Amino acid sequence: MSVFYDLGLKAIKTFDPEKAHGAAIKALKLGLGPKAETSFPELATEIAGLKLPNPVGLAAGFDKDAEVIDPMLAAGFGFVEAGSVTPLPQDGNPKPRLFRLDEDQGVINRMGFNNRGLEAFKQHLQARKGNPGIVGANLGANKLSTDKTADYVTGLNALWGLPDYFTINISSPNTPGLRDLQAADALEDLLDRVQEARMALTGDAPSLPIFLKVAPDLDFAQIARITELSRTYGMSGIIVSNTTIARPESLESLYKHEPGGLSGGPLMKSSTQILREFYMASEGRIPLIGVGGIASGADAYEKIKAGAQAVQLYSAMVFKGPQLAETICQDLVKLVKADGYDNISQAVGVAS
Ligand SMILES: Cc1cc2nc3c(=O)[nH]c(=O)nc-3n(C[C@H](O)[C@H](O)[C@H](O)COP(=O)(O)O)c2cc1C
Repeated sequence: MSVFYDLGLKAIKTFDPEKAHGAAIKALKLGLGPKAETSFPELATEIAGLKLPNPVGLAAGFDKDAEVIDPMLAAGFGFVEAGSVTPLPQDGNPKPRLFRLDEDQGVINRMGFNNRGLEAFKQHLQARKGNPGIVGANLGANKLSTDKTADYVTGLNALWGLPDYFTINISSPNTPGLRDLQAADALEDLLDRVQEARMALTGDAPSLPIFLKVAPDLDFAQIARITELSRTYGMSGIIVSNTTIARPESLESLYKHEPGGLSGGPLMKSSTQILREFYMASEGRIPLIGVGGIASGADAYEKIKAGAQAVQLYSAMVFKGPQLAETICQDLVKLVKADGYDNISQAVGVAS
């Protein structure tokens, strides 16, 4: 890492977190992000038919408007998920709404899906069409929408053919009513309408993968039901997990009581446990992406051994910068070799 970059990271960490995020996006757009190795033979893998040069992805929320996909791929991420995007642009919640919990290496956010809407998102995807790299579009629902399920269908219709996969995000805690879509009846209706839209859009072509992104605040009965419905309605996989509304006793930061979703270090243990339960509930038959608290190669490897075929991260980048993707990949290569595997896919679920 260059001294310049190191100093930049230190300066950014002293800013208000939302201003720091804006500065990071600007720097990335100017081409000032890190350039890293992306492909490692030991880490090349596949999930739901998507061929990844490495399994370490950028989680949704960092690039809400699909503006810095290529710089983040160049920084070493094996895939990038942009969004959440809602049909109409919206401002999100009043500021401050993003808090860095330095003592806990965690983040609390109640952004509330601030984004420029599907039209801007679509233009950004069109502008980079043809560039290499696996890209996901994470779909959300507008706060004032009375039929939230319809918003996901609108997102699929507007963007079909542009990203490599979609994510239906029904687990952000900052849009009233959104997480209720995880309840059995609402979920069944949602998945039914998503499947109908997908079949109409696909025609005879191969279908694009569609993942469901869930909260970590679920019990085993809910996990079993979500797994069963996901399989019934042909979902390509489940992303486990979004931020938590729980506040572990261990939190030390002054900001720990701020409302919103908690992510980063304090989410690692619970989100990995929930991931393991999804792997058990599906008996390994539905592809899983593990997210929540990954800050090292060892954390990523733990999620993979618990059943994830790929992983994603966001919060640890707030503390360690985007070059973290490459560091994690280098560490993963060592861990895979130390366990005597040729490829990381052999480690999926071995510790479930
Ligand atoms: C500031 C912030 C904004 C986020 N926005 C979104 C979002 O728009 N859509 C989404 O699905 N997840 C969003 N997330 C959740 C992350 O994608 C991820 O699931 C969660 O933070 C756990 O991973 P981490 O501990 O590596 O951050 C956001 C997270 C943060 C910290």
